[in-house]
Amino acid sequence: MIAIGCDHAGVEMKKAVIAALEEKGFEFRDLGTDGEPCDYPVIAEKVCNEVLGGGCERGILICGTGIGMSIAANKIKGIRAALCSDSFSTKFTRLHNDSNIMCMGARVLGNGLACELAEVFLTTGFEGGRHQRRVDLITALENK
Ligand code: RB5
Repeated sequence: MIAIGCDHAGVEMKKAVIAALEEKGFEFRDLGTDGEPCDYPVIAEKVCNEVLGGGCERGILICGTGIGMSIAANKIKGIRAALCSDSFSTKFTRLHNDSNIMCMGARVLGNGLACELAEVFLTTGFEGGRHQRRVDLITALENK
C-alpha cells in the first residue's frame, strides 16, 4: 500500500500516477487534496504519518515544485524524503538513502515522467551494507 497526497497544484499529476500504477498492481491510500486549495505541509504530515505508522510502505507527495513538500516531510522524524526529477537520482535515493517518501513538482515535470519515476521509486530496493551506516547517521542527526 502506497500513501499519496498533493496540494491543489498536484491534483492532475496525482491522478495520473495513481491511474498508471494501479494498472501495474500498486494500491494507493489517497490522502487528498481532491482539488480544493490546501496547505502542503498538512498533506505532507498525513502521508508521512501513514508511512511511519506502518499502514503504507512508502509515500508520494506532489506540489507545484515538490520543494515545499520535501522541506515539510523532512522535518518529521523517521522520514527521508527525496525530491525526484530524474531517473538516476530516483533509483539511487532508494538504493543508497532508503528514502521512504518521494516528492515531485507538478509544475516542473510532465505526467509521463512522473509516472515513470514513481515506478522506479516503488520498485527499487535499499542496497544496505555501508549505506545502512550512513542512513543510521542521518537518523542520529534527528536527536542532536
Ligand atoms: C502552491 O501555489 C505552491 O506554492 C506549492 O504547490 C509548492 O510549489 C510549494 O513548494
